[in-house]
Amino acid sequence: MVLLRQRNAQGSNATEIEKKIKRGNALRQGSAWRASRGPVALLLIAVTLCGAAVWLYITSLDSEITETLVSRAELVSPQPRVYTVQCSEDYENYQRYPGCTPQKCGRAVTDSVVTREEAQLLRRLAERGLALAGSEGGASILDLHSGALSMGKQFVNIYRYFGDQIRDVFTQEDFQLYRDVRGRIQTVIAETFGLDPTLMYLTKPTFFSRINSTGAKTQHDEYWHPHIDKVTYGSFDYTSLLYLSDYGSDFTGGRFIFMDQNGNRTVEPRAGRVSFFSSGTENLHRVERVTWGTRFAITVSFTCDPAHAISDPALPEGTHG
Ligand SMILES: *[C@@H]1O[C@H](CO)[C@@H](O)[C@H](O)[C@H]1NC(C)=O
Ligand SMILES: *[C@@H]1O[C@H](CO)[C@@H](O)[C@H](O)[C@H]1NC(C)=O
Repeated sequence: MVLLRQRNAQGSNATEIEKKIKRGNALRQGSAWRASRGPVALLLIAVTLCGAAVWLYITSLDSEITETLVSRAELVSPQPRVYTVQCSEDYENYQRYPGCTPQKCGRAVTDSVVTREEAQLLRRLAERGLALAGSEGGASILDLHSGALSMGKQFVNIYRYFGDQIRDVFTQEDFQLYRDVRGRIQTVIAETFGLDPTLMYLTKPTFFSRINSTGAKTQHDEYWHPHIDKVTYGSFDYTSLLYLSDYGSDFTGGRFIFMDQNGNRTVEPRAGRVSFFSSGTENLHRVERVTWGTRFAITVSFTCDPAHAISDPALPEGTHG
């Protein structure tokens, strides 16, 4: 019995020793872990930071991205600044006119086609014409080709409504300047997109616009909705805008925005600046609401289809010579 008990005691001693050995091993492993904790922690921090960066990047894709293509202060001269974009399929729904139908699409801005003095003369022309009436809402137009002028909630034809008196408002020089400028715009569009300028035609509507911050009274005043010119006006192939006032000093808001899938790209108006682009879905755009001041611009549009060509605006002949 005694022997047996001793053996048992030895047995329990042995388990004690085993436990100690195990504890020792555990402690050694623990200190090995503690020794490597620094680098592991750094690795974890790095992984977390990378994760955060990726998350920020992904969420930023979701929220609004706005890039300024051309700011008010820049002077784009002598060559236009050109941004090429892939043509949409819009043009396939229409007859193709080689030498004119867009094969290369994009948008461009130039400050060297129209001088600031010319822009100021055109702006005065617009001010005089629009002073004859104007929309009740914040956006008025004057179309010298059709004679359409915003009046209250509708439009009148200035040539019919004012008759001969219109010759006291506009001069032959005003119309000559408009024709000159539109010819230069046509040339720069042709050069930029590799077109034959003689195969491009002015199309309607072509108009002066005056926008201030007064709220819309009718749909005609709602200029800020995103749109595609070729969808709105099937005849358009190239759209151009000539700005007659300066973003930031003459007005605030009112920037032109190309709405691309991966972000919005703005052009800040500057008197004498011409912005032009192919009219299809590749150039979905909108104009930001004007928040202060008055913004003047001219829209000049071109078609490749001779059936939609219009003649240059001209001052009607006086009936009294
Ligand atoms: C572009 O702006 C519009 C609002 O003007 C916004 O809804 C849209 O998310 C913006 N697009 C991108 C890709 O940032
Ligand atoms: C905007 O223009 C219209 C027409 O000239 C004018 O009646 C209105 O007071 C103007 N609004 C502002 C905020 O200047």
